[in-house]
Amino acid sequence: MINTFSPFLDEVKLSRYPKDDGSDWQAFDAADAYLLDSFQRCLEGLSASALSELRVLILNDQFGALSLAITSRLGIVPVSRTDSWLALKGARDNGEILSLPVDTDSILSPLEGHFDVVLWRVPKSLAYMEDQLQRIAPHISAKTRVFAGGMVKHLANGHFKTLAKLGEVGLGLAVKKARVVEVTPEEERRRHLPAAQRSEWLSDDVNLTFTEYANVFSKGHLDIGSRFLLQQFDKIAVSEHDALADLGCGNGLLGIYFAKAYADISLTGVDESFMAVASAQSAAQVNLGAGATRCEWMVNDGLDGEQFAGRFNLILNNPPFHQQQGVGDHIATRMFLQSFAALKLDGRLVVVGNRHLGYHRHLHSLFGNCRTLAADPKFVVLESVKTRSEPGRLSGSLVKHHERKAGQQQRQRQNRRKARNN
Ligand SMILES: C[S@@+](CC[C@H](N)C(=O)[O-])C[C@H]1O[C@@H](n2cnc3c(N)ncnc32)[C@H](O)[C@@H]1O
Repeated sequence: MINTFSPFLDEVKLSRYPKDDGSDWQAFDAADAYLLDSFQRCLEGLSASALSELRVLILNDQFGALSLAITSRLGIVPVSRTDSWLALKGARDNGEILSLPVDTDSILSPLEGHFDVVLWRVPKSLAYMEDQLQRIAPHISAKTRVFAGGMVKHLANGHFKTLAKLGEVGLGLAVKKARVVEVTPEEERRRHLPAAQRSEWLSDDVNLTFTEYANVFSKGHLDIGSRFLLQQFDKIAVSEHDALADLGCGNGLLGIYFAKAYADISLTGVDESFMAVASAQSAAQVNLGAGATRCEWMVNDGLDGEQFAGRFNLILNNPPFHQQQGVGDHIATRMFLQSFAALKLDGRLVVVGNRHLGYHRHLHSLFGNCRTLAADPKFVVLESVKTRSEPGRLSGSLVKHHERKAGQQQRQRQNRRKARNN
């Protein structure tokens, strides 16, 4: 059978969100193509009317690559769930550009009805994968065709063991460094899966209680970088009525610690993970009681947006080194840029990071100053003050990235010109 999906992925320009994220990453990969190919095979012999009624569920679609390809080629609109606000926004934006409907929502939004097919981009975290398994179990049956896949380098034994909790896991050949397996749900195993739950734990170190969803950073324990930042608490000046931001808030630890210590500050926590924001929100209620009204929590691409401009006295940031399954320091660098815009004059950005990442270079370029509040063999806590209204020019990898990209575009233009002239 001819694969009608691959041309979609090749011809249609799908964008990541945000478009200018400073990475070279694409909006789709070989695992998406493989999942679509597996989906196509399972449609063989289906009548047109059965096809039009087919209910398809997609988990962890990246920027709508799977759902838009299916809608474009077959006219059916899959239901899609993700924990990533960036992936969701990217899917909706791509849908708008292509004039195709998308039915994509947060993983925390309840599912309804029965699904005939599940296409599952396997997430990195096993705890999150298990959580997704528990969420979909009531909505599938032994008849449901479940295809799970990803890039081979991201798939571990634990992923296959988790899938086996649902049913028999087939052998999937690796193709172009991607692997897709089919899981045949077994009624007994499916029925024994518990409902997805949040877990609660108390951190004695910081005397805070967390109630966390499965996909939260450093679930069930205190990240050593975050702990190191909080150990510098006395060196971080805060005044009455200051506006604080917890950028990439995860379970809300950093911001809530400060909000508990200073009863008059206001706190804005942002994260691109729906589960992180929901966890932080409930941690604020548990730890701050009525004081939780001083906090607002939101899913967003960091502090991107006019509403944040010049708003904060202090921004706390333990930057991510990966976003979904990609890694790179461009995410941190974007957050530093956003922070510069979101700070008031004389406002401060406090960052904790691995020493070897060299964040001080980027901070120094942007702010014109960067002070080391503390350092140990692994981590540094850095502070930059906004003393001017315009950011300096960035140095390092982000600049190199833009130069590389400009070079690539120029080469592509030259090649196209050559091809036209031949
Ligand atoms: C290293 S964790 C820090 C979490 C928490 N602040 C702590 O210290 O434990 C980085 C957080 O950034 C979030 N993140 C990644 N990319 C983001 C983006 N573009 N916008 C907002 N948050 C993002 C991740 O979901 C993650 O929760």
